[in-house]
Amino acid sequence: MEISALQTVRYTYKPKLPPSLTLPVENIETALGDPTESIADQADLQALFKNTYGKPLVSFIKGNNDKTTRCLNVGVILSGGQAPGGHNVIAGLYDGLKKGNKDSKLYGFLGGPSGLTDNKTVEINDAMMDAYRNTGGFDMIGSGRTKIETPEQFAASLDTAKKLSLNAVVIIGGDDSNTNAALLAEYFLAQGSDIQVIGCPKTIDGDLKNEHIEISFGFDTAVKTYSELIGNIERDANSAKKYWHFIKVMGRSASHIALECALQTQPNICLISEEIEADTMSLGQVVNQIADSVAKRAANKENFGVVIIPEGLVEFIPEMKKLIAELNDIMAVNAEDFAKQLSFEDQSGWLKTKLSKESGDLFLSLPAEIAKQLLMDRDPHGNVQVSRIETEKLLIGMVEQKLGEMKKAGTYNGKFSAQGHFFGYEGRCAFPSNFDADYCYSLGFSAFVLIASGLTGYLSSVKNLSKPAAEWTAGGVPLTMMMNMEQRHGSKKPVIRKALVELDGNPFKTFAANRETWAVKTSFLFPGAIQYYGPSEICDQPTKTLKLEHQN
Ligand code: FBP
Repeated sequence: MEISALQTVRYTYKPKLPPSLTLPVENIETALGDPTESIADQADLQALFKNTYGKPLVSFIKGNNDKTTRCLNVGVILSGGQAPGGHNVIAGLYDGLKKGNKDSKLYGFLGGPSGLTDNKTVEINDAMMDAYRNTGGFDMIGSGRTKIETPEQFAASLDTAKKLSLNAVVIIGGDDSNTNAALLAEYFLAQGSDIQVIGCPKTIDGDLKNEHIEISFGFDTAVKTYSELIGNIERDANSAKKYWHFIKVMGRSASHIALECALQTQPNICLISEEIEADTMSLGQVVNQIADSVAKRAANKENFGVVIIPEGLVEFIPEMKKLIAELNDIMAVNAEDFAKQLSFEDQSGWLKTKLSKESGDLFLSLPAEIAKQLLMDRDPHGNVQVSRIETEKLLIGMVEQKLGEMKKAGTYNGKFSAQGHFFGYEGRCAFPSNFDADYCYSLGFSAFVLIASGLTGYLSSVKNLSKPAAEWTAGGVPLTMMMNMEQRHGSKKPVIRKALVELDGNPFKTFAANRETWAVKTSFLFPGAIQYYGPSEICDQPTKTLKLEHQN
């Protein structure tokens, strides 16, 4: 197979580790903190996680740990959407296992969690591992979105793990997949099995973060990739001076990606879903805000601009949020009946009888294409697939209509020609930035130490990430510590809480302090492509979000 010049050179890149993980493995000791509590709903979670609730935080320090040289069998799963650096998590885990004991084995479960339930594996060897070091993608073993939830799936998972004589399963995933990891860890113990389960925080969305997880891996590379593209579009817009570009960026519910891209590129408008929800803005008000910027720029003879739209926007506009929540519940509770409604007209008629009056009216007032997109299949975790809702087109249409009204009223006199874009999949499999290559390798290595130390129900954690890797620390966070109870699929479920953009946080405040200027005056910033080799100030910088969140 032909290999690109960059891939060939990236194979030789040696990821940086936190100092505690560079020690001989028998000198990496686990320091245990005090027992922990979940972030909310403590009594419910304690009852559900009888064996794993309340474990202490773990950090790695210099000392003695004779367990790390044991021969271990471990299975690893890539779960959910691709995120740059997944292969390096596997590499860190693999190298840790082999460093501890050369006879240890690492199995890759093929195609995501279903690889565990269906016992589809491959044993990873040196040649296979070396072909994927520092590369993007999840193609080494594949990924999937199967949710392990039925008693049969749990039993099948245990059966596979026993057949392979596994000591541990590592789940590399986002909030939903790591909720699954917590449930699996609990289930194994409840069945009298000592097979351990460890998670690693993955998702480009950046919404799996808290006091102990500073960022999920993949966010760094994805936002840098989108920001490069947005910067290029800004330059094109400023050159031709004839288009408004409406760019939807991935991120599911959270606007972390949109916000970071705005900090990196200084567009005219960036919508932040969390703010729109907090201000209970209607769709009409969002449209007015954009039209206002278009009109002000037109008055300066600048009939061009860039708008960044977070993927999950529609779920945060209060009237749309209510509609989607009602649709989710109705479609989950009446799944069989809904499946019988074959045409969109039948579906609309059926829904009208079930939705509240307000939501029913809104649903029928939406352009048919958008209404249809709201009815598309939910993912296995019950989420509406926001990547498939063309919010950029919805907004272009509504802004166009508003500008028409303004023209008639004499409050706008310009030209409006718009282009829609969606940046999502473009960023999920890029070669991991140096930050993600280092961070992921460290997370994988840390997962090995947690396993070797006999721990279960933990998320691998690497901290102090806004500083150089030489100052990073590593350890583990109990999964139950990050959980609360939420309404899913029509009933209350234990889940890891998603981290949304904090409106009193430094990243948002920095953006808010500048946006009025950016809305009118062309202030575009061009970050350019990710650099893998060269001066540290352009190759090893974390995101602006991470720096602003941890500046002191
Ligand atoms: P994860 O939460 O599994 O990491 O996936 C993130 C994501 O890329 C979202 O940003 C996006 O909405 C979704 O996956 C798209 O899913 P799919 O790959 O199934 O189209």
